[in-house]
Amino acid sequence: MWKPAERIKYKAEGGHWPSEAEAAGSRLFSPFQHGRLDLAQRTWIPAMVPWRATEEGEVTEHVLDWYRRFAEGRPGAIVVEATGIRDVPSGPLLRIGHDRFLPGLKKLVEVVREASGGETRLFIQLIDFLAIRRRPKKERFLREFLRIDNALRSSLADVADSDEALRDYLCEQDEEALEALLSPRDFESLTRGFRERVTDTEQPHIAELPQSLPRLFADAACRAEAAGFDGVELHYAHAYTMASFLSALNTREDGYGGSRENRVRLPLEVFAAVREALKPETVCGCRMLTEDCIDGGSTVDDSTYFAQRFAEAGMDFISLSRGGKFEDAKKPGIGQAIYPYTGPSGYECMPGYLSDQQGPFGRNVAPGRKITQNLRAHGLDTPVAVAGGIHSFEQAEEILKLGSADIIGFARQALADPDWFTKVKSGCGDQVNLCEYTNYCEGLDSKHKMVTCQLWDRIDRGEPGSRLTPDGKRRTTAPAWKRS
Ligand SMILES: Cc1cc2nc3c(=O)[nH]c(=O)nc-3n(C[C@H](O)[C@H](O)[C@H](O)COP(=O)(O)O)c2cc1C
Ligand code: SF4
Repeated sequence: MWKPAERIKYKAEGGHWPSEAEAAGSRLFSPFQHGRLDLAQRTWIPAMVPWRATEEGEVTEHVLDWYRRFAEGRPGAIVVEATGIRDVPSGPLLRIGHDRFLPGLKKLVEVVREASGGETRLFIQLIDFLAIRRRPKKERFLREFLRIDNALRSSLADVADSDEALRDYLCEQDEEALEALLSPRDFESLTRGFRERVTDTEQPHIAELPQSLPRLFADAACRAEAAGFDGVELHYAHAYTMASFLSALNTREDGYGGSRENRVRLPLEVFAAVREALKPETVCGCRMLTEDCIDGGSTVDDSTYFAQRFAEAGMDFISLSRGGKFEDAKKPGIGQAIYPYTGPSGYECMPGYLSDQQGPFGRNVAPGRKITQNLRAHGLDTPVAVAGGIHSFEQAEEILKLGSADIIGFARQALADPDWFTKVKSGCGDQVNLCEYTNYCEGLDSKHKMVTCQLWDRIDRGEPGSRLTPDGKRRTTAPAWKRS
C-alpha cells in the first residue's frame, strides 16, 4: 500500500476512557432517532469486505461468524459488506442479484439480531461495478487483445506491411517505446489491465447504465428488505460505478456527465427507484466520498453539492468515506488485477500509521464537517456518518460535540476489537485493543484472502468453537472478551 513520503510514525492512543456513568451521559452512547433511522447509540461499523462468501456469492458459516462477532459488541449499526446487485459471477463477494441468495441473507439477519439482542440495526451495502481484467502478458496482449486501427497501421507503415508484421514489431519494443506507439488507453490495458469506464459510451451496456441501474438497485433493495434488513446503503463511494458517475472525471455527453447537476442525476434516479420500491419504514441512504483525492477528481465542493441533493431527495443517512480510486492505484503484477486502495487515494481511504504531518486519525472529519454544516445551513438535518482512523472515545465525542457528524464509523477499530462498544460503554475502555493501523487486514483484502486482524488471528487458535482460515494458519474471529 502507498504511504506518504514523510513516513512519520503514529500510534493510536486511547486517551481518557469514560466511566460507565460518563459513557451513559455521553453523546456517543445516547440513542439517535431521525426519521426512519433509529439507533441505540451513535456508533456504526461501516462496510468491510472480508472475502468469506462462496465463489457463487452465497453466505457461508465464515460470513455468519464475521457478522456475529461484530454484533456481539452491540454497535448502533452494522453495514454488511459491498454486495453485488447483478446476477453475474464476481468471486467470493457477497451477492444479492437473485432470489436464490435470500435464504443465506435471512440467516445473516437472524444471526445479527440474536447476537446483538436486537440492539444493532443492520443495513447492507449495494454495489455495482464494471469489468476489470488482470494485467496480461505483453505478448498475449499485443498478439490477441490489441485491436489494430488505421492510425496505428499508418504510424508503423515504414516498419510493418501487414498486421502480423506490425504485432511482431510491437512485441520487440520495450515499455517506453510502446507508450509512444500505443493509444493511452491501450497502453493502460497493457500495463495495468483493461478497465471499463462509465465514459465508454460506445459500448451499449455502458451507454444504457442510466436505464438499467435504477431497476437493478431497486430489485436488490427489495431483496434486502425481504431478507429482513433494516435498510440499504447505496454504494456511491470509491472506485465503483456510481462513484464514477459522480466523479469530475465523468465526461459522458448524454446528460449524465460533465456538470455536477448531470453527474448527480443517475445517483438521484437510482435513489428514487429504490425509495419507491421499498416499504415506507425501510431505511435507505448512501455511502459517498468527501473527496475523490485524485487529479481532476471531485472536490469537497462537489461533494457538498451532491450531499445536499441527496438530503433534499430524502435519503435517511449519508455515510462519508474518501478516496479509494483506480486512477492512482499501484500497477499490478502480470496476472494480477489492479486494486483501488493501493495509491495515494487508497491511503486517504484507509490511512495507515506511517503518515504525513496531518496523521492518519480523523482525516475525513474536516471535509465531513463542511458537508454536514452545509446541510444544516440549508435546513437539512439528514444524519451524517463519518469514518477514517477513529478509535478513541474522546475523538468520537469531539466530532459529535462540534457537529462535524452525527454518527461515528469505526471500521478497522471494530475489526481490531469488536468489543470496543461494550467495553467503553461499561467503563472498561482501558481493556480496548487499539487498532495499530498497519493495514495487514487491507493487505489480505487486496489479495482477496479471508480478512482477519493481526492483533488476534494467531491467539488461541485451538480454542473450541473458533474456526480457522482454509490454510489452517489464522483464526477467523476475535477471541471472546475475558473481563479483567
Ligand atoms: C478489509 C476492508 C474492507 C473494506 N470494504 C469496504 C466495503 O465493502 N465498502 C466500503 O464502503 N468501504 C470498505 N472499506 C472501507 C471502510 O469502510 C472504512 O471506510 C475505512 O477502513 C476507513 O475507516 P477506519 O479507519 O475506521 O477503518 C473496507 C475497509 C477494510 C479495512
Ligand atoms: S490488521 Fe488489525 S490492527 Fe492492523 S489495521 Fe487491520 S484492524 Fe487494525
